[in-house]
Amino acid sequence: MEKIRVFCPASVANVSCGFDVLGFCLKEVGDEIIIRKSKQKGVKIISVEGHRLPSDPRKNVAGIAINSFLNKYPSNFGFEIEIIKRIKPGSGIGSSAASSAGAVFGVNKILGDPATKDDLIKFAMEGEKFVSGKAIPDNVSPLIYGGFTLTRSIDPIDVIKLPIPNELVAVIIHPQIEIKTLHSREVLKENVPMELAIKQSANLAGMVSGLYKNDYDLISKCLVDEIVEPHRSSLIPEFYKLKDVANKAGALGCGISGSGPSVFALTKGNEIAKRVADEMKKVFKNHDIGIQCYISKINPNGIKIIPSK
Ligand code: HSE
Repeated sequence: MEKIRVFCPASVANVSCGFDVLGFCLKEVGDEIIIRKSKQKGVKIISVEGHRLPSDPRKNVAGIAINSFLNKYPSNFGFEIEIIKRIKPGSGIGSSAASSAGAVFGVNKILGDPATKDDLIKFAMEGEKFVSGKAIPDNVSPLIYGGFTLTRSIDPIDVIKLPIPNELVAVIIHPQIEIKTLHSREVLKENVPMELAIKQSANLAGMVSGLYKNDYDLISKCLVDEIVEPHRSSLIPEFYKLKDVANKAGALGCGISGSGPSVFALTKGNEIAKRVADEMKKVFKNHDIGIQCYISKINPNGIKIIPSK
């Protein structure tokens, strides 16, 4: 294979009760990455379209992730990369994960699949480490495994692919401000009171059970974040208003997507999703901050190869 084009979906991390461990990917929203073999060894980013990002591979998460890949699986040729960025950096829907995971997925395919899925997660997390200061798997794992994932451990990598209830739909509201994950992590407390840790682990366990049992009521009860949301909510414009209208319009629950500023709601079915999206959009009517809104089913496949144009 000389060239590959991949679709790298956006994703929602944390999903309220699973800080740094739970995540799912979306269907239509995502970046594209084109990777070509080149004679010259190493990685060259030849273009980044859509958003301004560094083209120096040592400062671009795609380049960082590929270099980490090549350290373990060296190649006697190099790679040229074109990145078509549709997920805005600092949006809270896995922009850096899409670039890092998409890049290593593509290089792995060109090299004939030498790496395992868990290897790819490890390499992609190097990109995450560069932007957020920590190797975090929650956006990367669903892109590599597809669907809804729980990353139980990162050393060694242990990902559990969770079932996706058929009618589960995500609504995303992305207020057009940028929040860097690094900053969004600085507002968190070092220690968690025992009482909150107990509630959070009960909700995470309940959420996993709800997904296995197709139990929308249980999923709804467990979409609670006792630990992170209270500290981050002040960074997100109109957060509690969005949550209130989403819940009143019939959402199963609503929370911060990853490190924000995007806010997600989950619903049972498309009709409710549309209603929830309309109500959430109204919150920003006549507001000085613009928004983007997406309605999407959970993407069971993650990153996929698409035809080269
Ligand atoms: N779990 C991360 C956070 C999201 O909330 O900071 C980015 O991976």
